Amino acid sequence: MTHALVTGSAGFIGSTLTDRLLADGVRVTGVDLFTDYYDQALKRRNLEGAAKHANFSLLELDLGEADLSRLPDVDVVFHQAAQPGVRASWGREFAAYTHHNVLATQRLLERYKQTKLERFVYASSSSVYGDAESYPTSETVLPRPFSPYGVTKLAGEHLTLLYGRNFGLPVAALRYFTVYGPRQRPDMAFHRFCRAMLAGEPITVYGDGRQSRDFTFVADAIEANVRAWKGAKPQGVYNIGGGSQVEVMEAIALLEKSLEVKARVNFEPRPAGDPLRTRADASRLAQDLGYRTTVGIADGLAAEAEWARSLYGRVR
Ligand SMILES: NC(=O)c1ccc[n+]([C@@H]2O[C@H](COP(=O)([O-])OP(=O)(O)OC[C@H]3O[C@@H](n4cnc5c(N)ncnc54)[C@H](O)[C@@H]3O)[C@@H](O)[C@H]2O)c1
Repeated sequence: MTHALVTGSAGFIGSTLTDRLLADGVRVTGVDLFTDYYDQALKRRNLEGAAKHANFSLLELDLGEADLSRLPDVDVVFHQAAQPGVRASWGREFAAYTHHNVLATQRLLERYKQTKLERFVYASSSSVYGDAESYPTSETVLPRPFSPYGVTKLAGEHLTLLYGRNFGLPVAALRYFTVYGPRQRPDMAFHRFCRAMLAGEPITVYGDGRQSRDFTFVADAIEANVRAWKGAKPQGVYNIGGGSQVEVMEAIALLEKSLEVKARVNFEPRPAGDPLRTRADASRLAQDLGYRTTVGIADGLAAEAEWARSLYGRVR
């Protein structure tokens, strides 16, 4: 039976990937530290289904510190663990970002550099582009992060690629463009909006709401991981996006429909590190991995809204 290691397996994307792999008949060892970046109860909840599965086991450890010889030899590694979030990565918090995003990645690569892996897939980010030079942004554009978080994600990506080149490790890096859907992190905009709207509270929009993002539904990001495992080009770097480019205010209008709640919006200044716009050139994903994202923003937001309702209930 194929054996996968999923780091960050209790998180938003890692837990969804874990469920998908288990459903595909893959044995999964999950690794997570259950960091307190957000409510750990949500992370435990994310793993409720997997925990009941005979082919799942979980190692609670810090990749930046633990003895990684404890990790099993596996066929494929999906490295999703990280300290996420652009806005929190300034000031003293930066130390957590270098620990969880750079050191942890380097230590994981050391652990697996001389094993027979089918693939080491690194979860990178559109934040490596910052305020990009051109839109839609292709993988060939020089990365120029706009936040300390983006710098650490780019450092992790470089480490992944250089271990690939030096040790012949088959690696791939997936630059996710804002992922959303059920289990989305509570600090991310759509989750914050759903929670506040269901509680009858005002929502906070940073900037004027006209900033736009390339939003990627989580199932599309997961499919891209599976395809990268099976078919990435050597040292392949891929934009994972191209789903829906919408402005934040348009997304709020869609959420109002799904939740049947009118949003009350407070505007606050755009924080440092937030780019005005992201837009993926997803042609490499289509060419090399034969994939185009499939879920549009209206369907994707409806799925997230339904999940948020199950989490927070509905205010009448
Ligand atoms: N969600 C997005 O829109 C998005 C966009 C671009 C990139 N990414 C990347 O995708 C990955 C997953 O993001 P997410 O949104 O699911 O975040 P998440 O916070 O929900 O999941 C990350 C998980 O990693 C774990 N973790 C952190 N440091 C660890 C360590 N040192 N050892 C073991 N576990 C550790 C955390 O406890 C958490 O459960 C991250 O690498 C993130 O940088 C996410």
